[in-house]
Amino acid sequence: MKIFKNKADFRTYLDAVKSDKKSLGFVPTMGALHQGHASLIEKGLEQNDMVVVSVFVNPTQFDNREDLIKYPRTLEDDVQLLKKISKDQIVVFAPTVADIYGDNVISESFSYDGLEHEMEGKFRDGHFDGVGTIIKRLFNIVKPDRAYFGEKDFQQLMIIKKLVEKLDLPVQVIGCKIHRDEDGLAMSSRNTRLKPEYRLAAPFIYKTLVTAKEKFGTISANKVTEWVEQQFEKHDLLELEYFIIANSETLKTVKRKSKYNSYRAFIAVYADDIRLIDNIALN
Ligand code: PAF
Repeated sequence: MKIFKNKADFRTYLDAVKSDKKSLGFVPTMGALHQGHASLIEKGLEQNDMVVVSVFVNPTQFDNREDLIKYPRTLEDDVQLLKKISKDQIVVFAPTVADIYGDNVISESFSYDGLEHEMEGKFRDGHFDGVGTIIKRLFNIVKPDRAYFGEKDFQQLMIIKKLVEKLDLPVQVIGCKIHRDEDGLAMSSRNTRLKPEYRLAAPFIYKTLVTAKEKFGTISANKVTEWVEQQFEKHDLLELEYFIIANSETLKTVKRKSKYNSYRAFIAVYADDIRLIDNIALN
């Protein structure tokens, strides 16, 4: 399996791949790969000749220094997982911070037509500028035909689609279903940091989303929100940061339901100091 830690060598290699007219899928990651990433890569392999997986913990998208420092970095294990999927059709790009940012580790500013002001944008200052900055740079280096993102970060997926539309980038952005553990917990690299009692408690998040979805069929969005908030007030370990029912396209909080719109419920929860997010389509 080819692993590039340097942008210049990687570009030379990719130019050769491109001149062979091979189609290129791209799965950007921050490493600590799990089955959720594997499912994105497998989809990429179905639709392209090769898949680039980038492994890069992007400093500019962290609003919390502690979270950046503690973010798991497990390149050797990541490569083992990738080798099981395909040794010759996957290429790994694991650049250094200096390779991507030089000595200027700051974000560009982006406008995503208001998508950035909702939910995660309210709670994670500068997060989507950081995501836009790294994705724009990576797309520029990799020049993929298609790029794959999980719906667990649904707002991120919408924002990347908006970035591509606004910058008119020649890449198709493909959203992929949330991958869950057997007990329902959405797969995330942060799950590995959960202490056992918090890992046991965490499936409560998805369970609550599923019941919220059932309730959304018969009661108002406000009432569902109140109900979810009560469930977390009663919970000893999990602390709700937000639960929001929003229009799936604008991501604006729903005031009054309409059968013509599609809605999603979004949730962010602290399990000790680990922040977990999840979401579910409601109709
Ligand atoms: O979803 C992630 O892991 C990151 O936000 C991404 C898209 C790789 C950008 O750093």
